[in-house]
This record gives sequence, structure tokens and C-alpha cells, in this order.
Amino acid sequence: MIEKTYYWILETNHCAYAFGVNNAGILENTYWGKRLESRIDYPDLPESNGWASFNGPTQVLQEEYPVYGGMCYHEPCLKITFEDGVRDIVLEFESEKTTNNELIISLRDLHYPLKVNLHYQTHSEYDLIERWVELVNLGKETITIERVFSALWHFPVGGEYFLSHLTGRWNDEFNLVREPLTPGVKVLESRRITSSHHHNPWFVIDDGKCTENNGNVWFGALAWSGNWKLTAEVTNFNTTRLGIGINDWDFVWQLKEGEKLSSPHAICGFSDKGHGEASRLLHNYIRDELVPHKKQIHKVLYNSWEATSFDVNESSQASLAKIAAEMGVELFVVDDGWFHHRTNDKAGLGDWWPDAEKFPHGLTPLVKKVNNLGMDFGLWIEPEMVNPDSDLYRKHPDWILHYPTRQPTLARNQMILNMARPDVQDYVLSKIDLLLSENNIAFIKWDMNRNVSEPGWPTAPGDQREIWVRYVEGLYKVWGDLRKNHPDVIWQSCSGGGGRADLGILNFADQIWVSDNTHAIDRLRIQYGFSQVFPASTMESWVTDADRGKIPLAFRFHVSMCGSLGVGGNLLQWSQAEIKEASLLISRYKKIRPVIQFGNQYRMSNYSMQYMSKDAEKGVLFVFQTDNYSNNSPIKIHLLGLNPELKYKVEGLLEILSGSEWMSRELTFPLLMYKSVLLEIAAC
Ligand code: DGJ
Repeated sequence: MIEKTYYWILETNHCAYAFGVNNAGILENTYWGKRLESRIDYPDLPESNGWASFNGPTQVLQEEYPVYGGMCYHEPCLKITFEDGVRDIVLEFESEKTTNNELIISLRDLHYPLKVNLHYQTHSEYDLIERWVELVNLGKETITIERVFSALWHFPVGGEYFLSHLTGRWNDEFNLVREPLTPGVKVLESRRITSSHHHNPWFVIDDGKCTENNGNVWFGALAWSGNWKLTAEVTNFNTTRLGIGINDWDFVWQLKEGEKLSSPHAICGFSDKGHGEASRLLHNYIRDELVPHKKQIHKVLYNSWEATSFDVNESSQASLAKIAAEMGVELFVVDDGWFHHRTNDKAGLGDWWPDAEKFPHGLTPLVKKVNNLGMDFGLWIEPEMVNPDSDLYRKHPDWILHYPTRQPTLARNQMILNMARPDVQDYVLSKIDLLLSENNIAFIKWDMNRNVSEPGWPTAPGDQREIWVRYVEGLYKVWGDLRKNHPDVIWQSCSGGGGRADLGILNFADQIWVSDNTHAIDRLRIQYGFSQVFPASTMESWVTDADRGKIPLAFRFHVSMCGSLGVGGNLLQWSQAEIKEASLLISRYKKIRPVIQFGNQYRMSNYSMQYMSKDAEKGVLFVFQTDNYSNNSPIKIHLLGLNPELKYKVEGLLEILSGSEWMSRELTFPLLMYKSVLLEIAAC
């Protein structure tokens, strides 16, 4: 029995999270929701009781960090085998430590030398709480970790909840799904060594009464770029809980004497203002706290991939660069195809130096031409990969993930380098470091074009199944070192589009290439899903030749202007009229991009989007007609995020009205199919 009462209330500007040690010494959650007026308003810790002989106390109560032990039948956060074969964890509260905005609760196993530190960090102004867990082996015997989740959350007892999540596949990422949770466990995960196109490590739980702009939502995301798992469970006691962490699929970690293992960080929040506000809280945090270049405007870029594919050489790129510069592009990016023997996707990956035939004098002459045209130069790389037909693979066939007794499965004719190996890390670091040192490169697109197979590591120092974590740690190390050595370079994370879009990679990359699907209508849906988690500034979006001739250039530009604008069409085939129109749209984008990239984003019907500057002085509205108008009514929207007290002018409309009046008026847009509207909003 605990003598003293331990109860912690973590408060941010508008929300709060509370838990304590109950009468049986178990850490129990009591509250997650709106910040209450006074600390005495938070609920007391319920008594700890069991339920007949079929369920122990921890089945019934809201355990803060449930572990596998005793009568545990629900999804636990921690599963361990001790050296003597015991697979039962019994934690008791040991100590608390508070520093600035961080609380650390230390738990200790009653018998074994295992310490579990639960970390909570509040981000008050973002209304977010960051959580992670550290396991420490204080003994001599190895402890085998089989599952470690970063956090688990409980939702108010008795409610019926809906889970929103993002699902998809290559070329069709970020489809938003909202579904009711029913008794049992709903699992979302990645087993692919990246966070994946298929599910994203993000969730929103709502209580069924919620809309885009109103109602209670609890949300979170895992900052991890490898295998992850989310379990959303409705118990037979009608309680709902959700845990997230490293995927325990094929995972084992040997925690040796004195060692520590830290879980990835999870970020979570609550809002009573619906899904839209939940996204904006994450956007603010990602944009202002997470990404490397926080306040930097994203330049309008051109990317050569869809124009020249592997047919990259100095003259093809120089001709594209000339037109791009005329149009007002600020950053010219050479995509795949520039390096040693890369004439198609069968060769070259791993050999990161310019191809001698395509670039006889190296990249420098092209970089100079691009710079002389007034643009920055950017380059594509795919450092984690190797083709069988490469100097690197011929020299180091053992560097790939593989089992010696199995034929490696090729995907896009390539294999994955084992980023957990220090020699592989050194190689990748040295090659990319050299490229960046020898050339004036301002931007790198870091791609990864396949998922895992044969995840073997024959020479692993410990259990091979540690690969899932050690691979990601190796990736973070190399990328982190490159960032340190070249702090001004802007990085884009790409994995065949949005296969590695997560809060982990955004510690290193400022942008994400959201999808290889650049069809404007598909893209609207994909971007809508992406915006649930990520701010517009991180969303790279190109205008390409997809649907050229079918969908007007302005519509396609407006879609891409909803994020960081890029162009990816074959400019050599664009007419003078198209180039002129594109120039005007690019110059318009440059004017409004501070609001788009750094403002608050509001989602509306038919994928319409509104952005307001933080001071609510300036805004931008995009309206899209994606359907045949004859079958549909005009698009109707209400403006959002204006200051009710200020007066505003909305472009093209005569009246000057108060923010409050504009927000209550229904605006009607009778648009024909594939017509779009861009309107600026200004306080006056
Ligand atoms: C996949 C990316 O998503 C594309 O944009 C392009 O970079 C190709 N890889 C190049 O191989």
C-alpha cells in the first residue's frame, strides 16, 4: 500500500491529462480532456477492484501503462521474457521527477532489475503532450523485450467512439477513414520497414458527436519511420483504449546489463473544436517545433522526373532549367538518372557519383548554369538501395538485408542496404557528404522505392530481429550527420511518394513528396488526407502533364498551390500560352505563400481549402469543382478563422463586412466541372 497520495495533472493551455497511483499501488489514468477550472475539479482515483475470478483489477481500471503480467488479457504496452523464462511483469511506483515541462515517473519490477521510466513532456502553446518510455536493465542478466509501446490512452468511460485513420497504397495514399470502434481490437500497423503508404502512424478518436469544426477529439501520432503498431481496443467492460509504438511483429530486443532502450516519441492532444482544430494543433507543432528549417519559405521548385525520366544529361536538364527560370521557378531539381550507369531502373543504385557519359565534367557545369539562371540546384538520391548491377553490390554483396540461404527478392530491380551496419552507414555518409561538399546543392530529395523482404542480418551482434529498430536508428544517424555537416540543405522525404511520411522523418526533412499520383482530382483527395496530420508547408505538390488538355492549367496549379508549389511537366512541350499562364500563377503563389505555408488551414466541402495568417489579417480561399455541375448543386461554403471584430474584403465581392458576418454568410460558387477559384481575403 502506498502511504502518500501521488496524483499528477499535466496542463497545457486548453487541455489536461491526469493520472495517479491508486490504493493498490497501480498507476491509473483519471482524465484526458479539456483543462478544468481548478485542480480540485479533476476526478479522484477510483478504488482498485477485480471482477469475479475471471478478471483482475487491471482489467477493469484505466491502467496508465498496462504490462503483460498477472491477469492481463487486454493489449499491453510491455511484454518481456526474463532470463529465467518468467514472462510476468509486476511494476510498482518508485519515484517522480519534474523538470521544467517534463515529468518522469519511474516504475520498478518487484523482483527483477527492470526499471521503466514514463516520460511526459507538455507543449503548452501547442496543446500537445509528448510521451515516451525508457527501459533500463539494472541487472546482469539479459532482458528480452518483445513489445514496448510508447503510450496508451483511455477515453472517457461509457462512450462510443469512432476512429479516424489514413489508409492507402502506392499512388493512392492518405485516404481518410472514419469507423466506429466495437468490442475487440482494431490493429493498424506497418511491417514494411518504413511507416508506409498503407497506414499512417496517426489517429483521431471522436465521440460520435463531432464535426470538422466542433466536438471532442482525442488525437495522436508516433514519431517513427519504421514498423509501428496501433491497437484500438473496446473492452468487455465498455471502456476504450488505444496504444501505439514499435511493431512487435517479428521484433525482439536484447536489453543487456546496464543498457537502456528508449521508445519512439508519441505526441497527443485533445480538442473540443473538432477534427480541423486537431490538425491545426499538429500543424503548428510540426511547422514551428519539429522540422529543421522552421520559418523558411519553401521555394517554387521544378523537378525533372516526369519530363525526362532516366534520360537525364547536361543538355536535357539545361533546356528545362531555362524555361523553368523564365516561369519564375526558384529551385531546379534533377531527379533519378544522373549517377553512374543509371540508364534505367536496373543499374546504378549505390554508385553515387555522376555518370561519366551523361555528365562528362561532373555536375558542376549544370549546377553553375542553374545558379546563373538565378535558381538553386537540387538533386535526387536513394541512399538505402542498391542494384545487383552496381559497383557497390559487386564489392559488398553482404551489405544488403538478406538470409544467406535465400535468394533476395528484387523489387524495382533493387535490394535494401542494411542501414544498421556501421560500415554501410559510413559508406552512405561519405558518398552523399562528398556530393554535397563538391557541388553547390541546396536541396536533396531522399527517396526509398521498395518495401522490405528477407529482413536478415547474418552478422548481427545480437538477435537479428533487432533490425527493425536498428535500421531506422541507422537511417536517422546518417541523415542526422548529413544535416549537421550541411545545415543549410533542405531535405525532402520521399518513398515512392508518401511511403515515409511521419513525425520521425520530419526531424530531418522539411518536406514530403506526398504521392506519385499527380492527377489533380486524385491529388485533392490525397492532399485532404495528408492535411489531417501535416501542414501545407511540408506538402510538396507539382503541376505535371497528368490530365493536360483535360483539366485547365489554372485548376491544376490551384491544387498544387494548396501546399509547397512545384512544377513537374515537360516544359519543352508546353505552349507559350501555358508558360505565360504558369508564370502568372507562380508569381501569384509567391505573393500568397506566406499565408498558405505558415497560416491556419481550414478544410471545407468538396476539398475546398482556406488559409488564414496567424494574425487573421490575410487569407486565401481555394474552391474546386470536381463534379459535373449539371448533376450537382453549386459549392456552398462558410469562411472560417476570421476575426469576428475585424472588417474584411473578399476578392471579387463588393461588400466590406465584419469577420463575424462573413463567417455566418453562405458563399455560393456555381462552378462548372474542373473550374476552380482562388480568392484573397484581406482585413481592411
Ligand atoms: C519515386 C518518386 O516518388 C518519384 O518522384 C521519382 O523520384 C522516382 N522515384 C525516381 O525513381
